[in-house]
Amino acid sequence: MISKEILQDLLMLDDSAGGMPDAQLLRDYLTSGMPHGEPICMSLGGTWDRIAPGLAEFLSDTPKSAHGYQLSLHGLPRLRTALAEHLRSVHRIPDSAARGRDWDVAVAWTGTRSAMFDFGRLVKDRCQRPGRRPVVLIAGPAWDYAGVFSPLGYQIRYLPLRSTEGFLPNAAELDRIVAQIDADPAAQLALVVVNAQHNPTAVNWSSGFVAQMLAVAGCAGAGVLIDDAYFNVHDEGVKPTSALKMMIEAGSLGFGAPWLAVQSMGKQFGSSGWGIGSLIASVETLDALVHTYRLHHTLMSSGMLQHAMADWLQSPDCAHFLARQRVQLTETRATAEAQFVKRLGYPGSAVHVGECTPYIVVDVPPAYAESEDTAHEFRTRCFERTGVLTAPIWPWPMPKPEAAQPPQLRLYLGSGISGVREAVRRMADAGLVYSAVRSSEVRE
Ligand SMILES: Cc1ncc(COP(=O)(O)O)c(C=O)c1O
Repeated sequence: MISKEILQDLLMLDDSAGGMPDAQLLRDYLTSGMPHGEPICMSLGGTWDRIAPGLAEFLSDTPKSAHGYQLSLHGLPRLRTALAEHLRSVHRIPDSAARGRDWDVAVAWTGTRSAMFDFGRLVKDRCQRPGRRPVVLIAGPAWDYAGVFSPLGYQIRYLPLRSTEGFLPNAAELDRIVAQIDADPAAQLALVVVNAQHNPTAVNWSSGFVAQMLAVAGCAGAGVLIDDAYFNVHDEGVKPTSALKMMIEAGSLGFGAPWLAVQSMGKQFGSSGWGIGSLIASVETLDALVHTYRLHHTLMSSGMLQHAMADWLQSPDCAHFLARQRVQLTETRATAEAQFVKRLGYPGSAVHVGECTPYIVVDVPPAYAESEDTAHEFRTRCFERTGVLTAPIWPWPMPKPEAAQPPQLRLYLGSGISGVREAVRRMADAGLVYSAVRSSEVRE
């Protein structure tokens, strides 16, 4: 739930946030006096009041030097050390894979999205064959990688993930798609995106499938982008597949093309607004990325955030926080599933909970599932009648591709058990259940 004070702070006084569809809706809701209570934001995957308390505390204790330009384009050295230790521990990277030889880490302080963009430029410069259209292969529905790579001239090719198949990526289909790209003399597989803790489907990809993705990239001489934004965000008892560890192993065996793994720190610590994350690559790729491509647009800032993150990663509270968060996420996911089934009358097959990321996917009630327009109507109706914001499974800002499956919703679980219960209560009271009828009033 978002309090009135937070909304006022983020949205009022000027209307510049209007470019984001949810921002406009939230502003209108605030202006109309929040008729259903505090809004519950299950659309954007972020919170504004859930930063890890210990992390926030370290902010008050940063040295003066943190406020000047930093002197390394790789980021604050002690944060690099802390990130390297954190990554080695959570990904179980063996000691035989030496930092500085087999891999290295730099800091992202403007979010990992901008690093993906830079990596897309590097891959094009190095891998594109003359006369060929570079293709990026992405499993979809997906986070908005298309918005990163389309402007660079990449053609987007999706490996479809279907709810009827539990959103599991299909190895045979991957081979078929790669063969099709290969057979096109005007195209070239240039980049493969691996998002093993998958946003939005919440599936933890198997190591066999990740190995296959790395193998098809290796055969095609294509670059690899590993996006581990949700590596540390999963249910209790789940062992997240480490694409990074597998990539480092493949790299030491002579993987020829450039690879980059990014891991935002924002999702795991409730600090998305900091833009702090890690960039992991071979030493040479990382040097080129930070000394050339990143320098085109970014100088060395955010020292205070880098200092605080270093302190936090090295404090014992950090691991405890992540462990507690896993318990809460497991309980919230189970609550969401039970509430949608029991209170909103969803069949189990229409609620896709997965086991990692803070998301679940639910079907749009059949009466509203005819088209994207009717699904949009459902989301609008839902917000107007309940103050609950939901998102389409293909997230803002890119429109979903033509051949995608029937509309579904991605729901963010960050508001916890009480937020989920309250959202479902309001939806049930408003008649927005699975068997909801699309009234003529709605169609006008
Ligand atoms: C899958 C995925 N990757 C990357 C990002 C970007 O994260 P950040 O801006 O924290 O680096 C997001 C943000 O929502 C995401 O969901």
